[in-house]
Parts: sequence; C-alpha cells; structure tokens
Amino acid sequence: MKKISGFNIALHSKSKRIIEIKIKNELIEKLIFPFNKFDITALEYKPFTRFTIAKSLDDLSKNKLSEFLLSVLKDRSTGCIFICPEKLTPKLDQNFFVKFSTAISHLVGKPNHDSMSDKYYARFHIRHDDTSDSYLRKAYINMDLHTDGTYVNESTDWLLMTKIKDVNAKGGETVLLHLDDWEHLEELSKDLIGRENFIWSSPKSKNIDYKVEHPIFKKDEDGNTTISYIDQFPEPKNIKQGLFLQKLSDSLESSKKKIITALPVGSLVLANNHFWLHGRKPFAQNKDLFRELLRIRGHFC
Ligand SMILES: [Fe+2]
Repeated sequence: MKKISGFNIALHSKSKRIIEIKIKNELIEKLIFPFNKFDITALEYKPFTRFTIAKSLDDLSKNKLSEFLLSVLKDRSTGCIFICPEKLTPKLDQNFFVKFSTAISHLVGKPNHDSMSDKYYARFHIRHDDTSDSYLRKAYINMDLHTDGTYVNESTDWLLMTKIKDVNAKGGETVLLHLDDWEHLEELSKDLIGRENFIWSSPKSKNIDYKVEHPIFKKDEDGNTTISYIDQFPEPKNIKQGLFLQKLSDSLESSKKKIITALPVGSLVLANNHFWLHGRKPFAQNKDLFRELLRIRGHFC
C-alpha cells in the first residue's frame, strides 16, 4: 500500500475496493494555519481560494496526496476512498470539515454547481420530521442504491460526502455497491432497454428546471460498463421501461455484495460515481435525531 508521510493508508476492513486514509494529528495541526487564512464566505465567494487551500493540503504530502487520490478514484478495481482524522479534537469543528472537504474535492477536479444549495457544496440535515420532496431527508425510509447527478446535464464523475454531525443517530448506515460486484450486472446491462434513453427529471427542491435523456448503462473509453441511475427520477415512457426499472431496483436492493458501514463524524467518502452506487439504511426512530451532511459532486479536470 502507498505510503505518504502524515497519512495512514490501508484497505478498508469490509472491502478491498475501498482505501481508508487516516490523517495523523500532526498533519492536521499543520493544516489549521493555512485553513485559517480563509473563512467560509471567502471560499464561497472567491473560487480561487478553494484551490489555494487544496494546494496547502497537497504541499503537506509533498504533492503525493492528489496523485494518489486521483489514481484510486480512476482505478476501476477500487474507486472509493474513506478519509477521516485519526482523532477528533475540538479544533476539528464544522468549518474545518467544510474546508477539508473543499480541499479534497479540489485535488481531484472541480465541483459542479449544486443547484439545491446554489453553491459548490450543499449542507443538509436529516431530522425526525420531514416534509421535503425527496428521499434525501427521509430518516426512516431506506435510501435505495443510486448514483448522483442523473438529472443534470453535466458529468458527475465523483461525489464526496462528509459527515459533519450525528446526534441520537442509530442506524442510517452508509450502503455502497461496486458495479462489478453486483450479481446481475451482465444480465441487466446487456438488456437493450437499459441502453436506450430514459427521461430524467427531479423534484422542486433540486432547482433544476429541465429534463435530461440518457441510458442507464453505457460503456466508458476502456470498455467498462458504467451506470447512471436513481429510483426516484426516471420517467418511464412505457411499460417496458417501467418493468425494467422495477427489475433493476429489486436486483440492486437484494444484492448480497452491498457494503454496509457506519461512518464516524468527521469522515468523508469519495467515490467514483460511474461505477459505485450509494444509499443509506433507515434510522431508528428518535424525536431528537439530527445528522448533518455535506456533499460535493464534481468532474475530473
Ligand atoms: Fe446520492
């Protein structure tokens, strides 16, 4: 496994496809100073500052971190990275996590504009009560396996999810599935319906006022199958498309190859969005449940 001073790098205990990076405290201490040069408003208003803090992080690894993250993200056999601090300290507050997520995202490319928040990132909460129009904030319903960016007209090569806060949160584990581990990849990706155009739209809260058309399965430049799919947003044109989506959904949800893992506060998941699906298990009922997450979706430069 790659060695970079200041980072502990290993395979995740539940999957050889996931690389786990723990950041040593001494490195975090060195990050605090360059991170303090910019507040969150500066990062939001001045896009170049995001690259400045990314470079501060990369410099501490002698520029090895960006190279390593990109090589894992683009490697079909892995493509997923968990990053977390070795130890949570009071200095690692919400602002630190926003800055750290910003830095990581700008080492692997450039974030797409997130229309839900009208920023390059989105922070959102999951609580006991919810009146929103998508599964994102529904605490007690399984969020089925999906990829991100299915309903926008720009490429979503990767996504980053950071857990900022968890209070009274039991359940709600992260679920991941690598496309090549899925039992029915061959069968369903070769089905002609999976390769024809579907119409994809989104509910109001996503602030996208157009629809897009694309197939669920495609081949990338290396001939590997990729997937772009979420259960809530396709508009099946006929019974054939409807039944195909049902079969796909049932097959993904019943996969025995899903990786289910509880992520500690302060940890971040960075995954290739073309061949990793993600979802979330339901939470246990609790009136005082509170989880805060941050997400960034982007493309390779
Ligand atoms: Fe998602």
